[in-house]
Amino acid sequence: MSDKPMLFSFLRLRCTVWTAPVLLVVLLAAVPAHRASAQPEPTYTERYRPQYHFTPAVNWMNDPNGLVWFDDEYHLFYQYNPFGTRWGHMSWGHAVSPDLLHWEHLSVAIPETDSVMAFSGSAVVDWNNTSGFGTDENPPMIAIYTGHYRERRLQAQYIAWSTDRGRTWTPYEGNPVLDFGLTDFRDPKVFWYAPEEKWVMVVALSVDRKVHFYSSKDLKSWTFMSEFGPAGNVTGIWECPDLFELPIENRPGETRWVLDVDNGGGAVAGGSGGQYFVGHFDGTTFVAEHADTRWVDYAKDFYAAISWSDVPEEDGRRLWVGWLNNWLYAGEIPTDPWRSAQSLPRALSLRTDALGDVWLVQKPVEELKTLRETHRRLDVRAIAEGEHDLTGEGIAGKAIELVVELEVGDAAEVGLKVRQGEGEETVIGYDVLRKEVFVDRYRSGEKEFHPTYADLFEASMEAPEGRVKLHVFVDWSSVEVFADDGAIVFTSQVFPSPDSEGVSIYAEGGGARLVSLDMWTLASVW
Ligand code: FRU
Repeated sequence: MSDKPMLFSFLRLRCTVWTAPVLLVVLLAAVPAHRASAQPEPTYTERYRPQYHFTPAVNWMNDPNGLVWFDDEYHLFYQYNPFGTRWGHMSWGHAVSPDLLHWEHLSVAIPETDSVMAFSGSAVVDWNNTSGFGTDENPPMIAIYTGHYRERRLQAQYIAWSTDRGRTWTPYEGNPVLDFGLTDFRDPKVFWYAPEEKWVMVVALSVDRKVHFYSSKDLKSWTFMSEFGPAGNVTGIWECPDLFELPIENRPGETRWVLDVDNGGGAVAGGSGGQYFVGHFDGTTFVAEHADTRWVDYAKDFYAAISWSDVPEEDGRRLWVGWLNNWLYAGEIPTDPWRSAQSLPRALSLRTDALGDVWLVQKPVEELKTLRETHRRLDVRAIAEGEHDLTGEGIAGKAIELVVELEVGDAAEVGLKVRQGEGEETVIGYDVLRKEVFVDRYRSGEKEFHPTYADLFEASMEAPEGRVKLHVFVDWSSVEVFADDGAIVFTSQVFPSPDSEGVSIYAEGGGARLVSLDMWTLASVW
């Protein structure tokens, strides 16, 4: 006999007049509890809800994890607290998308257990079934992550596998796969190194400001190969490394390897941020070809980025997202009932400058063009000294994209103001004498939630032939600026009033010229 009829007959027997209301209460209590276990979709209506950036409907999110493409789906896992809007109970949240923009929210993929939280890591498709968790016909997806032992404060590397397109995950019974009893040993990023048919893991020894490289034939047993660091910026602890090869845009046929490492503090704009090293990797050792520090982003809100694994060869792009936040104030940002977004997805490449130095270039993915709705264009015109509101020309909005080219003329400063309203604006400008491009969020809206939030971010940039090009994405609580064709990026949260929708151009200390301005309103992804 199955349990169900037994339960029903028990209910029939016991369902006397006085028990009926009790049962009703019990049943009603059970309904919302059941609903809460399914993953809700964001409603996109809250005051600061991003309209085309990824956010969880509710609760806390930090780093992107396990970015992997499989079977026509981009997977985005992320550090998630299923129980609240502050960091804790770290688990892997999960969403899938056909286009990096429209996400289906799935249930938690890897929950914390009684003793171990699931910290950051990566995922791969094990095409040759080297792990044996799948079959040749149905290759398994493998997640490689850090198990953080709550009581003993130790960190070790874990794996979990899925043979149903990432819908369910099973932790390996032989976990951990890499354990030295260390307290700060985390964030493994794994990729297939084809020339030697082996897996390579790069993982941070955070407090030592080092990364270690391991290799494996089956994702279960790992052999130490080499280490890198301390190098570059060592002010903050090292976290969330990634290593990949990229083409050099302006040197056809040439590539370099990029080692991306995040700093938990002391980054260029203060607090947490990412740096990268350009160099060579021979399957065993990474050697950087420069000694200076190179920053991934010049504002405060781009952290813990990792790249997608297994993007099909015919696509060929190296894509990533970063956590659109900063550990300085992440727990205080004025959003509810969720906290944090992921950045726009970006395609990566390299470019050499006049001296032959190689720089990382980030460009918003082409898929974003599919969100474009209304288009407005302004052609050449003088920008007299002062500020010029463009709202009357249909240039305004809270979720917009702008492509602007300015000629500095004899101005000392020239630029653009977005999310403008009563006493509010976010300024994106160029200081001609200092040769600095900057983003100023001192008056961008709510800022009292933390003393380190209000700020101005800047980076050195030439203006060849006196021209400055800016590609800007504005959302309900962020501004992302791509300058110097993607070699300089500012990723910044802003919390303006919903009424602050204005856009202006301005020139100070002289007149400038607008070469062109294109604006699109962008559709929400709901
Ligand atoms: C980076 C980080 C990782 C860690 C995770 C914990 O933001 O500190 O090093 O794995 O967050 O949530």
